[in-house]
Amino acid sequence: MRGRALDDALAEAAPAANAPLAAAQRDIAYSACRRLDLLDHLAGALLRKPNRALDALARVALSELIDHPERAHTIVDQAVQAMARDGGSALRGVLNAILRRFIREREALLAAALAIEPIRLGYPDWWIARVRAAWPDLAEDVLAAGNARAPMTVRTNRRRTTADEYARALDAAGIAAAAAAPGALTLARPCPVARLPGFEAGLVSVQDLGAQLAAPLLEAGAGMRVLDACAAPGGKTAHLLESADCAVTAIDRDAARLAAVAANLGRLGLEARLVCADAGDVASWWDGQPFDRILLDAPCTASGVIRRHPDGKWLKRAGDLTPLCAEQARLLDGVWRVLRPGGKLLYATCSIFPDENQRQAARFLNLHPDALPLPIDLGFAHGAAGPLLHRDGQLLPCARHDGFYYALFQKA
Ligand SMILES: C[S@@+](CC[C@H](N)C(=O)[O-])C[C@H]1O[C@@H](n2cnc3c(N)ncnc32)[C@H](O)[C@@H]1O
Repeated sequence: MRGRALDDALAEAAPAANAPLAAAQRDIAYSACRRLDLLDHLAGALLRKPNRALDALARVALSELIDHPERAHTIVDQAVQAMARDGGSALRGVLNAILRRFIREREALLAAALAIEPIRLGYPDWWIARVRAAWPDLAEDVLAAGNARAPMTVRTNRRRTTADEYARALDAAGIAAAAAAPGALTLARPCPVARLPGFEAGLVSVQDLGAQLAAPLLEAGAGMRVLDACAAPGGKTAHLLESADCAVTAIDRDAARLAAVAANLGRLGLEARLVCADAGDVASWWDGQPFDRILLDAPCTASGVIRRHPDGKWLKRAGDLTPLCAEQARLLDGVWRVLRPGGKLLYATCSIFPDENQRQAARFLNLHPDALPLPIDLGFAHGAAGPLLHRDGQLLPCARHDGFYYALFQKA
C-alpha cells in the first residue's frame, strides 16, 4: 500500500517468534495482496474515514474473514487486539464494528464488489486487457492461475543423487511428491526448504518446473563455453553445471545478487566464473573468446510468476513495459555478438506479455539476418503429471508450472 515490495517490507517487520508463525505471517500478507483491490473496495464501503493503521489491519482481517468464515470470532478478536497494540484503543471499536458488519452482510458486500470485473479477476485493468489480447481463449484461466497458490517443485542435483533416489528420501521424510519431468519432483504441498532432506548437502534445489526447462533447451555439452548473462540468484546457472561438464561464465550486474549465485553453487558443489558487470556492455567484461551457448534470462515484468509476488501486479505500471523492452533488446543485441557461428542463444523471460516475448523475438530476427529461430520442443517435459500448458515457447501459468517464455536462436 506504500509502494514498497512486500518481501522487503516483511523482512523489516518485527521478526516472528518461530518459523511456523513467520510462514503464517507471510501467508496472511500474500493472501491479502492477491485480492488487494477487493479489500480496498470493501474497506471503502465499510470505513467512513480512512486511517493508515486501520486501513492495513482492516484489509488483512477482511481477507482472513473471506477465507475462513468458520474462524470469524478468533479473527475479529485478534485483529482488535492488534489494533489496541498498534493504534490505541480509540480505533478498536471502529475496527470491531466494521468487521462485525462484514460478517453480517458478507454475501451482499461480496456480491456487490465481485460484480465489478477487475475486482472479480483481481488485477489492474491494463493487465487484464493485455492478457485478454494475448491469450483470448485462455485469459481467465491464466489470470486465475496467477492468483492461485504456487506449486513447489524441486530439481535434483544429478551430480549427487537421482530423482528416484530423492523421491524415496522425500517419502521417508513424510513429504508427498510426484515426478514432474526428468529430474523434477513437485511436492503435494509446499514445505519449508529446511525440511527438504539433504538440502544443505546440495542434493536438491527449489526451482519451478518452467524454469527447469532452460538448461535442457540450451543443450550445453561437455567442454562448451557457456554464458549465463543474467545469472542471479543462479538457479539456471546451477542447472547448466549439473547437466554437463561445461565452463560457465555467470554475469549479473547486482553484486549482492551475484553473492547468492556463489552461495548456491557452493552448496551444490559447482563452480563458475562469476562476473559483476552489465552484460550488455560487452567491451567491459568479454575476453574475446566466443561462447558456444548463451542463456539470456532477461529482466522482465515477471508477469508469469505473479502468484509468487502478488504485490507486483499493483506496484507495476503499464508504462514500465517500454523501458524494460528496450533493456531486453539492448541485452539481446549485445550478447549476440559474443556467440560463435553455429552456437545457440536461449532468450528467456518469466513474463506472459508478448511485448517482452514474441515481439521481442520477432524484432531480434528482423535485425539479425544471421539468427535462425529453432523450434522449442518441450516433449521431454510432458510426463506422468500431464502436459505442460504452452503455445510454442510460451508457457502459461497453471497448476504444474509458472509462466515463462523461451526463444532459441542459432547463429548462422
Ligand atoms: C530473471 S533474473 C535471473 C534469474 C536467474 N537466471 C535464475 O535462474 O536464477 C534477472 C537478473 O538479471 C540481472 N540483470 C538485470 N540487468 C542486467 C544487466 N544489464 N547485466 C547483467 N545482469 C543484469 C538482475 O540483477 C537479475 O538478477
